[in-house]
Amino acid sequence: MDYLQIIGKQTLNGAVKISGAKNAALPLLGATILSKNSLTISNLPNVVDINTFLKLLKMLGATYTLENEQVNIDSTTINKTKATYEIVKTMRASILVLGPLLARFGHCEVSLPGGCAIGQRPVDLHLKALEEMGAIIEIKNGYIEAKAPYGLKGAKIIFDKVTVTGSENIIMAAALAHGTTTIINAAKEPEVVQLCEILQDSGVEINGIGTNTLTIKGSDQKLLDMKNFTIIPDRIEAGTYLCAGAITNNKLTVTDVIADHLSAILIKFEQMGFTIKQTNSTVTIYPASDIKPVNIITTEYPGFPTDMQAQFMAIATIANGVSIIDEKLFENRFMHASELIRMGANITINGTVATITGINQLYGADVMATDLRASSALVLAALVAKDTTNIHRIYHLDRGYNQLEVKLSNLGANIKRLKG
Ligand code: EPZ
Repeated sequence: MDYLQIIGKQTLNGAVKISGAKNAALPLLGATILSKNSLTISNLPNVVDINTFLKLLKMLGATYTLENEQVNIDSTTINKTKATYEIVKTMRASILVLGPLLARFGHCEVSLPGGCAIGQRPVDLHLKALEEMGAIIEIKNGYIEAKAPYGLKGAKIIFDKVTVTGSENIIMAAALAHGTTTIINAAKEPEVVQLCEILQDSGVEINGIGTNTLTIKGSDQKLLDMKNFTIIPDRIEAGTYLCAGAITNNKLTVTDVIADHLSAILIKFEQMGFTIKQTNSTVTIYPASDIKPVNIITTEYPGFPTDMQAQFMAIATIANGVSIIDEKLFENRFMHASELIRMGANITINGTVATITGINQLYGADVMATDLRASSALVLAALVAKDTTNIHRIYHLDRGYNQLEVKLSNLGANIKRLKG
């Protein structure tokens, strides 16, 4: 199996171009199921999860041609409505075909996504909302069997918890429903906003975009006239590379970003003593004279994103003082802590709260990636650790970062992908 070998303490400098957002591309690929025509999607990130989702759509009968970061996809040819365990088990975001398939065909079977390393990841809120829209949902042999033979009907939905893919599933289902759907306590991440904007451009009447209350007027099962579009930049990839500048205390620029999507992250860098300068498409981080500790509570957008928690924990391990990180969204998202401790970090976990006491020096070690963002935290720690770090099970990393070792190498890191 591939592993990354990093020799720490190199000086980084330069700029890195940020790719399209994986978590925007996934629901938007699902939305092509609602389209009456083929279309081209640009700035598609070349990461494993996107390729898996395209494979799922192809299994259902869609056709596509993928070239560099552009895909021309025709989902009008879809003639199957079963998303099998084999593919869903490799990527739980496959659940994003549930809403569109049910809305378009009136029935579908989607394997229940299992949990994953960071938590149980239930989909009960997705299913409850679809039932309120008139769907009949049964769980049989590990599959969600959903039926709505006369189409879904508009309903007033309230999410007891903010759910990103839950909101996205219901937004897509509502787009083809009979009547109007109101979603209260919807997610408003930039990725959810782009899904709404693309559907609106396809003729769906949506009000409240960017707020927690959405009103969606369904098309009475008429397929949508989807136009070509470009995926927004990946705010988590951008934040991760800025963390590389922070942890090595070097100046570093990310380009092709939307700085507004990073506000909570940028404020935390400034609280730690770094200087941030932004233009409308770039953000640059400048070294801190003294890296201060940080207090973080993860929450929904526009608050501090859970997907950046692991990366900031890595920086906190070498800050001058004690940092507190409270992970409110997922019950098991501290697995990177034990690997950082193997590199010399001083971290104690008590329930959802991690206390990180900064130390002067991390040391290279053999460590194991456990989930996507934890993997990037280990890479960040390795960049500043003394000696060599080998990071194993980096298939986790490849799910959400395109050629991370190449991009870091171009910035001056000593990092190689080796065969284990
Ligand atoms: C999305 O996951 C992202 N994935 C995750 O990014 C991200 O960490 C998460 O949102 C939170 O921002 C994609 O967009 C593909 P949720 P999602 O439903 O939608 C609970 C990455 O690194 N919940 O917003 O699955 C759930 O357990 C990934 O790219 C229910 O209880 O997350 C969690 O505590 C990791 N029942 C909370 O809500 C449900 O039916 C938020 O989960 C659904 C969710």
